[in-house]
Amino acid sequence: MADLSTNFLGIQSPNPFWLASAPPTDKEVNVRRAFEAGWGGVVWKTLGEDPPVVNVNGPRYGALWGPDRRVIGFNNIELITDRPLQVNLDEIARVKRDFPDRAVVVSLMVPVNELAWRNMLTRVEDTGADGVELNFGCPHGMSERGMGSAVGQVPEYIQQVTEWCKTHTRLPVIVKLTPNITDVRFPARAARAGGADGISLINTINSVIGVDLDRMTMSPATDGWGSHGGYCGPAVKPIALNMVAEIARDPDTAGVPLSGIGGITTWRDAAEFIAMGCGTVQVCTAAMVYGFKIVQDLCSGLGNFMDDKGYRTLDDFRGRAVPTVKNWNQLNLNHVEKAVIHQDTCIQCGRCHVVCEDTSHQAIWATKDGKRHFEVNDAECVGCNLCVSICPVPGTITMRALQPGETDARTGRVVDGSYANWTTHPNNPMRSGCA
Ligand SMILES: Cc1cc2nc3c(=O)[nH]c(=O)nc-3n(C[C@H](O)[C@H](O)[C@H](O)COP(=O)(O)O)c2cc1C
Ligand code: SF4
Ligand code: SF4
Repeated sequence: MADLSTNFLGIQSPNPFWLASAPPTDKEVNVRRAFEAGWGGVVWKTLGEDPPVVNVNGPRYGALWGPDRRVIGFNNIELITDRPLQVNLDEIARVKRDFPDRAVVVSLMVPVNELAWRNMLTRVEDTGADGVELNFGCPHGMSERGMGSAVGQVPEYIQQVTEWCKTHTRLPVIVKLTPNITDVRFPARAARAGGADGISLINTINSVIGVDLDRMTMSPATDGWGSHGGYCGPAVKPIALNMVAEIARDPDTAGVPLSGIGGITTWRDAAEFIAMGCGTVQVCTAAMVYGFKIVQDLCSGLGNFMDDKGYRTLDDFRGRAVPTVKNWNQLNLNHVEKAVIHQDTCIQCGRCHVVCEDTSHQAIWATKDGKRHFEVNDAECVGCNLCVSICPVPGTITMRALQPGETDARTGRVVDGSYANWTTHPNNPMRSGCA
């Protein structure tokens, strides 16, 4: 069986699955249950200064459901921990003592003030915790008070606070980034410049989950009013994965240890984040929706995948996908693909024909010899992948790359296997070599 153990910034854990800082890690009782279920580590729910913050006493969560009522997106207006600091610190110390082989990282958020950070770090060190995560990400409530994403949106603040933390603690410092920015490379570079040992991302995305059309209020609402929240769950995974990729391939941050967060629900999601360069992955919504025992499926699924592929350790495939992420202008414009419909599994629902007819390139015939039959017309197909995306039977439509020597029936050009991108394309007035 593959070895799932990780060493992230010197913090050991038996598997890469950490619970993200959130309700699942808010209390000793939860964290004990999580470790008993098999989680490799936790990032404790964000601690702040006393007196503790106060949460609303109304709905603080909202969901976006798929047609089968599975939660595909999750929204919250919860603040950081609302329990006294010393209560949390005592619990962290007890949990770490009883689970020495698990990672216990403590998330922190205090005002942008060196003394406040120093005091907090000293108290956290005394618990025996393995590391700290600086919460520069929460987009609601705390940001109005100048913390959370209010810090994460200003690279200079990120760098400054990270420097203070590196000065005042011997623990590894992970900087957790907000996705509510234009270009994630700038905050990531600031974290590195400040000396961060690692970066975790993403925190939640600004969101309003819906409108109650009977009451004409935003939803959920407390006493008739609502406030934007933070969005997470499966729907945010592509956004998180892109941000991880951007940091992993940016020359200024490449190689910085990454902890991937955002929509991780299955072992496959986790494997994708690891292939995109992450050393550990963090999970919140999936644990809140399915309970702690999902970690057992996550571990066995990831282990089976690694066994199948011949990967002995996570490092054997960590970051493997990063070199394949390029700017658009580097893509090979000479490469040609066509969709192929496999008649043996086609149920003749006709969806591919409708979408290609209405919104793509009218490249799927719906009849043959007067009978219902779906087949791709290579002379029109641009290889867009829309039909693959909407076909209800997995594997029934696949894409086939034309091989050198084959003629593209749409353009009449013979594929010659050469590479040419937009930077040299004759249609590009700015192409290299063009005066
Ligand atoms: C109810 C709730 C509370 C959260 N509280 C915190 C928090 O206190 N500190 C923090 O850094 N992130 C917090 N998060 C963000 C998560 O740690 C995580 O970054 C985000 O949910 C994305 O992961 P997911 O898609 O697996 O949920 C919270 C998320 C939720 C849903
Ligand atoms: S969408 Fe898929 S199953 Fe439906 S007709 Fe097209 S190929 Fe067949
Ligand atoms: S790949 Fe695009 S253009 Fe080609 S058949 Fe499918 S939907 Fe139509």
